[in-house]
Amino acid sequence: MIEITTLSELTIDGKLSLGPGASSKDLFAFYGDELRTWFHQQRALHSAIMVGAGTVRSDDPELTVRYFQGPNPLRVVPASMGDIPLTSRLLNDGGATLVAVCRQAPDAVVAALAAKPNVQVVRCGDGRVDLAELMAVLYGLGIRSMIAEGGSRLLHSLFEAKLVSRIIIKHIPIITGALEAPTYLRPVNGTSALSLSRWSLADMFVKSGVGVSIYTPFANAA
Ligand SMILES: NC(=O)c1ccc[n+]([C@@H]2O[C@H](COP(=O)([O-])OP(=O)(O)OC[C@H]3O[C@@H](n4cnc5c(N)ncnc54)[C@H](OP(=O)(O)O)[C@@H]3O)[C@@H](O)[C@H]2O)c1
Repeated sequence: MIEITTLSELTIDGKLSLGPGASSKDLFAFYGDELRTWFHQQRALHSAIMVGAGTVRSDDPELTVRYFQGPNPLRVVPASMGDIPLTSRLLNDGGATLVAVCRQAPDAVVAALAAKPNVQVVRCGDGRVDLAELMAVLYGLGIRSMIAEGGSRLLHSLFEAKLVSRIIIKHIPIITGALEAPTYLRPVNGTSALSLSRWSLADMFVKSGVGVSIYTPFANAA
């Protein structure tokens, strides 16, 4: 089984960004080097890092280790029909990226993605990427731990599929006041099968003026 840690920046009003269409990178302005280094160290400690296609479309992230000396994890993006811009940074910088599409994704789209340097495309699921199936593929590739950075829909699906082993939240001390900004979790199809699931607070500390909370499943509590 792959150990999946979610790692998110959340504002006081529970938002993942400053507004609809805004990049979560805007939140970096509200913290300093100590937290940035720790955050990139977390990336380096895992063999893969995942964001949803929505985050690639809105933020165009690099998902590399830059503020800490360590290896870059394999970047993983579920994009059911392969709908991410061919100009995306993570398709063009030569680093390893795996794009997961569903079985119905058009062959031409898959071929265009796979033609990018160091980009691999796998098919998992019907209609939408099946995350459990994707994890089995990644396990076969030797991946044992993964950071999932968001956004709302991918995180919701991971919790719903009970794939999360650890939650890390960086509590950004601002209120956005942006009602339409993405919240922490949002179901892809508008209905949520998540029921109360209890987590244990495993650690809590402050770095660069930002609270960091780490949760593990309640059943695994010491
Ligand atoms: N603050 C933070 O820590 C942080 C981190 C990352 C992102 N964000 C923010 O989050 C927002 C984006 O969130 P989002 O919900 O729009 O996008 P997302 O969660 O990044 O991506 C969701 C998309 O992934 C694809 N997908 C494929 N299979 C899926 C599955 N099984 N479950 C869920 N998604 C699947 C779908 O697109 P297709 O229909 O194309 O398949 C889906 O719409 C942005 O504002 C970004 O800035 C914040």
